[in-house]
Amino acid sequence: MTDRIYFRQLLAGRDFALANPVAEQMANFVYLIGDLQTRECVMVDPAWDVSSLLDLAALDQMKPIGALVTHYHPDHVGGSLFGYNIAGVANLMERVPVKVHVNKEEADGLKVITGLSENDLVRHESGDSLEIGSLKITFIHTPGHTPGSQCFLVDQRLVSGDTLFINGCGRVDLPGSDPVQMYESLTGKLAKLPDDVALYPGHNYADRPASTIGQEKQSNYCLRVPTLDKWLSLMGR
Ligand SMILES: [Fe+2]
Repeated sequence: MTDRIYFRQLLAGRDFALANPVAEQMANFVYLIGDLQTRECVMVDPAWDVSSLLDLAALDQMKPIGALVTHYHPDHVGGSLFGYNIAGVANLMERVPVKVHVNKEEADGLKVITGLSENDLVRHESGDSLEIGSLKITFIHTPGHTPGSQCFLVDQRLVSGDTLFINGCGRVDLPGSDPVQMYESLTGKLAKLPDDVALYPGHNYADRPASTIGQEKQSNYCLRVPTLDKWLSLMGR
């Protein structure tokens, strides 16, 4: 691990978006990841309260240079969720003109949900990387929860969005979900990462905020299903 990494896990409703009961209930994590020497950072899934997120970065003397999107659900990128309007990347763009990094499979959907234009986006595919100072963030396409879900691997840490949770995984019964793809993403990609990779999920759904791939391979049923058939029957298919 590098000692130059800046890595903050922020919980909506507790660390920012204070006094917002919906944010508290949804329990989204936002991540600020950057290089302590160049003082540049990216914001992963900046939603709910963009002003507070910018204030927190400024307090740490970090300059946001991009937004990374794990997937296009409004609780991660902003937009309307059951009629409730959530702040997100579009509001961030009004304050700081950074690029929004999205998987190519859901770039068009992200534009619909957030109102962003093509110029605002950088479309990514699996294996792409983004350098921030001395850091390298690798994009891993993990479809299943949504078609363009992606995880970010940086300095032996995996920011997993709604693909892999601690003791669980993202839903596969939503529009755009695909349980077959999810099985491949979980067992074919994430379970093959080294055991000592730390896991940082998109929601605070467990009794602890982080885990490791090794721990999850032992205790998370989503990584322990031996065949696709068994997985599909578990998922009610
Ligand atoms: Fe989601």
